[in-house]
Amino acid sequence: MNVYDAARMSDLLAKEGYDAAAREEDAELVVLNTCHIREKAAEKIYSELGRLAVLKEERRAQGKSLEIVVAGCVAQAEGELVMRRQRAVDLVVGPQSYHRLPALLKEAREGARVADTDFAAREKFQALPAPTKAQIAARGVSAFVTVQEGCDKFCSFCVVPYTRGAEISRKVESIIEEARRLVDGGVREIVLIGQNVNAYRGEDEAGRSTPLEGLFERLSAFDDLTRLRYTTSHPVDMTEGLIDAHASLEKLAPFLHLPVQSGSDRVLKEMNRRHDARHYLDVVERLRRVRPDIAISSDFIVGFPGETEEDFQATLALIDAVEFASSFFFKYSPRPGTPGAEREDQIDEDTKRDRLARLEARVEAQRRAFNAATVGRTLEVLFEKQGRHDGQIAGKSPYMQAVHVDGDEGEIGRLRPVKIVAAGPNSLSGEIVEAREFA
Ligand code: 5AD
Ligand code: SF4
Repeated sequence: MNVYDAARMSDLLAKEGYDAAAREEDAELVVLNTCHIREKAAEKIYSELGRLAVLKEERRAQGKSLEIVVAGCVAQAEGELVMRRQRAVDLVVGPQSYHRLPALLKEAREGARVADTDFAAREKFQALPAPTKAQIAARGVSAFVTVQEGCDKFCSFCVVPYTRGAEISRKVESIIEEARRLVDGGVREIVLIGQNVNAYRGEDEAGRSTPLEGLFERLSAFDDLTRLRYTTSHPVDMTEGLIDAHASLEKLAPFLHLPVQSGSDRVLKEMNRRHDARHYLDVVERLRRVRPDIAISSDFIVGFPGETEEDFQATLALIDAVEFASSFFFKYSPRPGTPGAEREDQIDEDTKRDRLARLEARVEAQRRAFNAATVGRTLEVLFEKQGRHDGQIAGKSPYMQAVHVDGDEGEIGRLRPVKIVAAGPNSLSGEIVEAREFA
């Protein structure tokens, strides 16, 4: 979502006459779009700001200026504190008020110390300018569209409900309009995003509440749009309708990022995840029944307060039962203001590190096995960009794997059948097998 927000901020600044600087040293304005999900991400901002403060001083000595803006969830969570910790910051703007960036910059230039962390999300999308065709083309074949923001789940480890606010869904019409513009600008894959994307319930033109699969149905009718994805979903919001969409909608990619966090029922309960391991396995089973080749990925947290070796073993057992195509894994990071951070049974760093390494070994082995199993198969690849070597192009398989082939730049934006010949650690390589055009 930060990638999407950053793109919308640059659309906004472009209208004000800004252009992207090739190098940081040439910039007159730097916007740090920040993440607060784990302590490491949040702390990184301050070292980055320290560096920018030095650059700002150097610029000032040359009679030039550098404005520093902190946006995103650290801005939301820490507000004015960011400016107190680093005096060189001119402006702090939260994820729900960045549509006001030009006006806020003006206030800051007039000498005010501005921190805007209002939750005025309903205005935001209406106030944002649409990207130009050139901006769309520069961002490539695959584009994010935010359809939902915020979260009402309150998992006990997570800051998102506090930094992103309550769940809201954008109206269908505004999403369709944005998607139409993107596709007219050359986009061929749209990824619908939201902190809890499958909780999406947006109003359509007739005032009816529309679920996520309703958006996919509408988008499926766009001729030039070849692939649809969505992220990130919560297991309790995986409805029958959405599961069935994986069978009925050809353009909906057979891939689902569905974080489970833990395989222990006791830990899931204490995380306030609102489901048990059985429920998760049932969802996966139903998905595989309607779409046998669907690939599943997950997020895992190790070392949540009170997690025992037995709990951890339950997570490994769930991993074995599901066989994930890929996964992200994190050490639990206590976040200020969340219930988990208050607990006294925090797990020591060594145990966390040890569990993370064991979990990583397990999910990485599954990822390699999943990749290796595609060798010899023919997959539809959507080509997105030039490859690292001359004459090479790169794209994505339906299962989110990076695929390289020898091929012409003209293929970028097209969906092609590719016979996979080898699986490396991070990508597949193959050959385009027929000249039939899908896109
Ligand atoms: N500590 C570690 N990982 C976290 N995540 C969210 N909050 C925390 C935390 N406090 C992880 C979850 C989530 C992903 C985006 O980040 O796994 O799905
Ligand atoms: Fe955070 Fe996701 Fe839980 Fe919401 S559902 S609180 S975003 S982990």
